[in-house]
Amino acid sequence: MSWGARSGVALGCRARPIVDMSYSRHFLDFQGSAIPSAMKKLVVTRLSPNFREAVALRHGVPVPLPGDGDLLVRNRFVGINASDINYSAGRYDASVKPPFDIGFEGVGDVVALGLSASADYTVGQAVAYVKAGSFAEYTVVPAKQAVPLPSVKPEFLTLMVSGATAYISLKELGELSEGQKVLVTAAAGGTGQFAVQLAKKAKCHVIGTCSSDEKGGFLKSIGCDRAINYKTESIESVLRKDYPEGVDVVYESVGGKMFDLAVNSLATKGRLIVIGFITGYQNPTGLSPIKAEVLPAKLLKKSASIRGFFLNHYFSEYKMALKHLLKMYEKGELVCEVDLGDMSPEGKFTGLESVFRAVDYMYMGKNIGKIVVELPHSVNSKL
Ligand SMILES: NC(=O)c1ccc[n+]([C@@H]2O[C@H](COP(=O)([O-])OP(=O)(O)OC[C@H]3O[C@@H](n4cnc5c(N)ncnc54)[C@H](OP(=O)(O)O)[C@@H]3O)[C@@H](O)[C@H]2O)c1
Repeated sequence: MSWGARSGVALGCRARPIVDMSYSRHFLDFQGSAIPSAMKKLVVTRLSPNFREAVALRHGVPVPLPGDGDLLVRNRFVGINASDINYSAGRYDASVKPPFDIGFEGVGDVVALGLSASADYTVGQAVAYVKAGSFAEYTVVPAKQAVPLPSVKPEFLTLMVSGATAYISLKELGELSEGQKVLVTAAAGGTGQFAVQLAKKAKCHVIGTCSSDEKGGFLKSIGCDRAINYKTESIESVLRKDYPEGVDVVYESVGGKMFDLAVNSLATKGRLIVIGFITGYQNPTGLSPIKAEVLPAKLLKKSASIRGFFLNHYFSEYKMALKHLLKMYEKGELVCEVDLGDMSPEGKFTGLESVFRAVDYMYMGKNIGKIVVELPHSVNSKL
């Protein structure tokens, strides 16, 4: 296959079939592996929060061509996020109609790149990125959106969305200070694990909710002062008994009854950060009912506040946050727990086919740490 010939087709250059060959020189093979002409990817074919109904695995899709400022990344690890089902339901941008690509983040190798992108990157470089369309064997990523990595490891993926969300939201909205009490819901999950550790680094007392003793053990291991397994203990009773003054900050991801309970447990001048409301995502509305009518009175009585956080609104903070998180990880100051599904009924999440299982696994509440799917690739295979 010739990259030059393909780019003529892909760009629709009917009158100009000859492309600039000096440019195509940059589409190099990587360690003896030819870039194939076709690949597999997941595509949203109909809008639904039911991932299996919304998404199809497509075979024989042309491998995309990087533009001048782009990298072509061969994905080795892709991250599962609770909002994958919000995305498949079309809740991110109602104007976008199926078919469209899905998957928020990936880690992989640069296998080809445009001329301008080659100023900062080379073929073989390990990178991570946040960009729609990672549930594919290859993804084109603008070089400006890529983060260079020392190696291809799933731990780095945990920082891209999940770690950055915890870091930026607590920094910008948490107003954490020594000795404050922080409640983290879904604490043993992808982003919760970082909220726990970052609040501990800020010398806070951290309480984390989870659904099993195994998760509770993990929370203890990352420094959580009090893990509450809500399957065996009442969160409400524990908070009332052990924290009668309330909690100063809540990092809240669950929604519905958990949100109501968290509002009730706020201390005077407490801050509840709305990170998500996963209990609603599978509903047709995407929402989880709360006791909204009592909110103004409850907040006023405690001079408390509720603050929303959406990572997409904090791009200006993103690179700095990631730099910090990567440094902490490299110095051994941050646990980046990865759940590759080894303990799931059908075993490790390997290949794009297993993204469906991985999403189910999250919605069964089984994961400890960030759910990651591996896309295996034999580096020296001649494709
Ligand atoms: N605002 C932002 O920019 C942003 C960015 C990233 C993530 N988020 C939000 O952060 C939250 C966590 O996302 P994540 O991707 O890191 O997922 P995750 O925490 O790795 O997995 C979800 C966890 O939520 C808990 N959970 C509680 N009720 C659940 C239910 N009814 N269905 C499924 N899980 C339930 C489960 O833990 P237990 O069983 O232990 O409770 C489950 O393991 C989500 O609300 C997500 O939308 C927000």
